[in-house]
Amino acid sequence: MTSNNPQTREWQTLSNEHHLAPFSDFKQLKEKGPRIITNAEGVYLWDSEGNKILDGMAGLWCVAIGYGREELAEAASKQMRELPYYNLFFQTAHPPALELAKAIADVAPQGMNHVFFTGSGSEGNDTMLRMVRHYWAIKGQPKKKTIISRVNGYHGSTVAGASLGGMTYMHEQGDLPIPGIVHIPQPYWFGEGGDMTPDEFGIWAANQLEEKILEVGVDNVGAFIAEPIQGAGGVIVPPESYWPRIKEILAKYDILFVADEVICGFGRTGEWFGSDFYGLKPDMMTIAKGLTSGYIPMGGLVVRDEVVAVLNEGGDFNHGFTYSGHPVAAAVALENIRILRDEKIIERVKAETAPYLQKRLRELNDHPLVGEVRGVGLLGAIELVQDKATRARYVGKGVGMICRQFCFDNGLIMRAVGDTMIIAPPLVITKEEIDELVSKARKCLDLTLSALQG
Ligand SMILES: Cc1ncc(COP(=O)(O)O)c(C=O)c1O
Repeated sequence: MTSNNPQTREWQTLSNEHHLAPFSDFKQLKEKGPRIITNAEGVYLWDSEGNKILDGMAGLWCVAIGYGREELAEAASKQMRELPYYNLFFQTAHPPALELAKAIADVAPQGMNHVFFTGSGSEGNDTMLRMVRHYWAIKGQPKKKTIISRVNGYHGSTVAGASLGGMTYMHEQGDLPIPGIVHIPQPYWFGEGGDMTPDEFGIWAANQLEEKILEVGVDNVGAFIAEPIQGAGGVIVPPESYWPRIKEILAKYDILFVADEVICGFGRTGEWFGSDFYGLKPDMMTIAKGLTSGYIPMGGLVVRDEVVAVLNEGGDFNHGFTYSGHPVAAAVALENIRILRDEKIIERVKAETAPYLQKRLRELNDHPLVGEVRGVGLLGAIELVQDKATRARYVGKGVGMICRQFCFDNGLIMRAVGDTMIIAPPLVITKEEIDELVSKARKCLDLTLSALQG
């Protein structure tokens, strides 16, 4: 992005000379220069060029209550003055962390009353891996170490997080996955369902869990981890047959079930958790993102009472982070949950904006580039194809990236996962803003099609 604005150029120079950006090709970014986001309000961002952009991704799926809420800034500044930091190690605690643990337990599925705090979703999943293995060791079954997860799932970027995730391009860097983590196919009908109906494919994909448990041996399997809806993998909404079959398999074998709720949690599906949406009964839930609406980093692991009862018998759990339950983050999260609850934001998503977004998005099905539109709650995906009937892709064209660039240039953030465009706007988005999002998306699809034909 070349700019005539000296201030933009100055920031881009700082980026080139000093910054290594996450998930980026450093050299390419130096040549192009990052877009500089300077401020935000509601569902809109502004960049240093003065462009107003509708944030169809709520940052990185996190800004649930929208940008610019003074109450969260107030909560942070009050807590910084009162107690900016103290830790939860060595038998101390502080009010914000304890009150937040209770507030999370109040909205979590029944019987999930304890929270272990972390600084991020990745740390939440690292914590999960260690806690699962500790749990089985206490129960006298130390061999139950293996965690089953899914190809193209995303569980973070730490060594354990990236190993649990099923992103092969992440595994290729750094000899991952670490031992004791195995993957099964994902329930991605559009991409991988072939000639099966979605429901046949959903059953097939779920049965892979049972096959893997039998292959590894139930005595060696500690847990199965999955996102209720895969987010970063491309908003993969499983076929309706999938979760019911998984539930049957989980009921049959003595393993733990971990729902990674980092994206689905805190209202994204129109329920507090994706597990509520699908009627799942997790033993542990990883949380982050919507917990603080991204205003400050925080994550955690919510743990079922029966699991805690076992952990209580195990002595020290030798695990924790300097910033576990950070008081400022906890105060912000508490205020965020209060706003979600008092303003009935999740109820409004369920009753009004989610049905509206899903209806408006599906109107894009008539576009020649669109092979499928799917979504749940305020999550959506648009599959870009060359042939609607066969679901065949454009080969080697980078259609998703072309479309993403048109979106940026036309005031909309839509993310591209390969040739799948995905959205997850702030939960406070209005119907008028949804209209704007869908009409901008259509315009960018038109521009993408013209570019492919031109
Ligand atoms: C489902 C899921 N789990 C875990 C993570 C990792 O969270 P973090 O980036 O806060 O470490 C993410 C991040 O996108 C995620 O989507």
